[in-house]
Amino acid sequence: MTSFDPSAVLFLFAVAKDKSMTDEQLLDLARVAAAKAYAPYSNFHVGCAVQSIDGDVVTGANMENACYRLGICAEQSALTAAQHQFGLDKVARIAVSGGAGDMVCTPCGGCRQAILEAAQLGGRDVEILCASGDGSAVERHTIGELIPFGFGPANLNVKPA
Ligand code: THU
Repeated sequence: MTSFDPSAVLFLFAVAKDKSMTDEQLLDLARVAAAKAYAPYSNFHVGCAVQSIDGDVVTGANMENACYRLGICAEQSALTAAQHQFGLDKVARIAVSGGAGDMVCTPCGGCRQAILEAAQLGGRDVEILCASGDGSAVERHTIGELIPFGFGPANLNVKPA
């Protein structure tokens, strides 16, 4: 039987809310999340960690489906959790790790649009750390770079609730 260890809970809390978290620590959380992906069709495991301006972190992973087009990406999975946990308008930084090799995993077009939603709601240019699955390569981008001239909530005059 496993026993309850209160220090483990404190440690998890420290990991999940830490304004001073380094890029590498946020990427580590994305890597851990990738290990929980459900991707039996592509076998391409992606994890994503989203940090709020207050230091809260939520994670997500891709989840595929036998009806292929119903699969969801890691970024959208994590952004859904972000909306529940602290609100899309508070998103500050995102880490993505995917695949098994040395090629960095950058967000797909649909995920860029989803990140743009958060960025425009919050009025800030969200930072995106993109890593290869083997951890050998990391690129730093912003959503402004990845989706220039985007169309988002600002175009429709939608503001945070
Ligand atoms: N995938 C993501 O989760 N995020 C991306 O930005 C790129 C692609 C997933 C979708 C699918 O489950 C698998 O990776 C292969 O495309």
